[in-house]
Parts: sequence; structure tokens; C-alpha cells
Amino acid sequence: MKNSSKMPAVNGKISIAPSILSADLCHLGKDVARVASAGADWLHVDIMDGHFVPNLSFGPALVRSLKANTDLPLDVHLMVTNPRNFIEPFAAAGADLLTIHAESQDDTIQTLKAIADLGVKTGVSIKPDTNPAVLKPLTDYIDLVLVMTVYPGFGGQAFLESSPAQIRSVRQIIQASGKQIWLEVDGGINAKTAPLAIQAGADALVAGHAIFSSADPELALKQIRQANPEI
Ligand code: DX5
Ligand code: ZN
Repeated sequence: MKNSSKMPAVNGKISIAPSILSADLCHLGKDVARVASAGADWLHVDIMDGHFVPNLSFGPALVRSLKANTDLPLDVHLMVTNPRNFIEPFAAAGADLLTIHAESQDDTIQTLKAIADLGVKTGVSIKPDTNPAVLKPLTDYIDLVLVMTVYPGFGGQAFLESSPAQIRSVRQIIQASGKQIWLEVDGGINAKTAPLAIQAGADALVAGHAIFSSADPELALKQIRQANPEI
């Protein structure tokens, strides 16, 4: 059966996607329910293969459990060298969006087409040192660009100072394409850095450490949302 993605189309609002990488994995269901009731828009799930990035995280089994336990769209970020090997299992597990890295080894357009054929929304991510021009040939194939605002692999790092310029370049490419494409940012987002990302053109924000390492995740999420001058 085809996956039927819950990921919404671009809607002019800022979406917030808590990253469960920083959640308490012994109480994951409780942490997810807390951010859902605090108004999270999507749930960000970081998949790491120990090769594309120097860390390991989760597999399709976790996505399957999340799917059965939350209505939030599952925004799955594949930090893996060969994403083509993993899109079917993650689609079958219930991913609503699969984001692959432009720097991965598989053919990007072929992999994006294969994701779309499974009924899943498509994303491409770029690392901080990648020239955003790589996105220009991809805009017909993607629903989302994920701009890394830290070097991928770990939660809790600081938002890189070079990020606003990178986000602005990506926003220009999206605008020039005339397509409705989300611009999501990932890494070091908190109530202080969220406005910098939004002003540069982001319309979706991943936040892990700032939400789940807070004593009050609901408040932390609301503070990030309130940092958006448009809401
Ligand atoms: C980093 C991951 C991020 C991470 C963000 O490689 O892709 O999604 O969870 O975490 P924070 O918000 O703590 O920087
Ligand atoms: Zn991520």
C-alpha cells in the first residue's frame, strides 16, 4: 500500500518540528505527547548511519512506533551515505517526509523520484559548506529544503554564524523556481536564533536541545514560536 503523507503544503505559517534526538528515550511517548499538546507542527526524526555522520541513531522500527502513537507528521532526516537503500523501509514505517542529503552517494533525482512514487513528500538537505546552487536542478522534485545550520551528527551544537547567508541564498533559489517548497532549518535553533532564521527566509524550524533539554519543553516550544515576529 502507498504511504499517504500527512505533510501539509506550504501554508504561509512557521512550522516547528521538535527533534527527538534530544528527547528522553526512556520516556519518548511522554515527550512526544508533551510537544504535540504544546502545538508542535511536525516531529523531526534524525536517522544516522555512523558513516555519513559520526554517530548512530534510529531505524524504521522507531518510526513505526511513533506512527502508531502520534498524529504529528513525521519529518524523517536521512543522514546516511546510501539513502536509496532505506527509503522503502522508512516509507512503509510511516514517514510523511523523507529528506536525503545532496552530499549522499546515491543519485539525488532518482532517489527523490523513488520517494515520491511511494507517496511520501520529498526533501533535500545541504550541509553548511555546500553551495546552495546544487539545489537549482532539484526544485521540480522537492517539497522541502533542509538547511543545516550546524555540521550534522549531534544535537546541542551552536547555530553557525554563516547560516543566515546560506538561508537567504536558498530562499532566493526557491523564489526563482516559482514552486511551493518549505525552507526548514536544522541545528542550534532556540528562542534567540529562531528570529535570525525566520528573517533570512526559513518557514520551518527544527529544535532538539532547546525543547527537550529544557525543564519545561512546552514553554520552550512556545518561546520559539513567539520568537517569530509574524505570529
Ligand atoms: C543534527 C540533527 C538535528 C539535531 C538538532 O545532526 O540533524 O536535527 O537534532 O538538534 P539541536 O536543535 O539540538 O541543534
Ligand atoms: Zn535533523
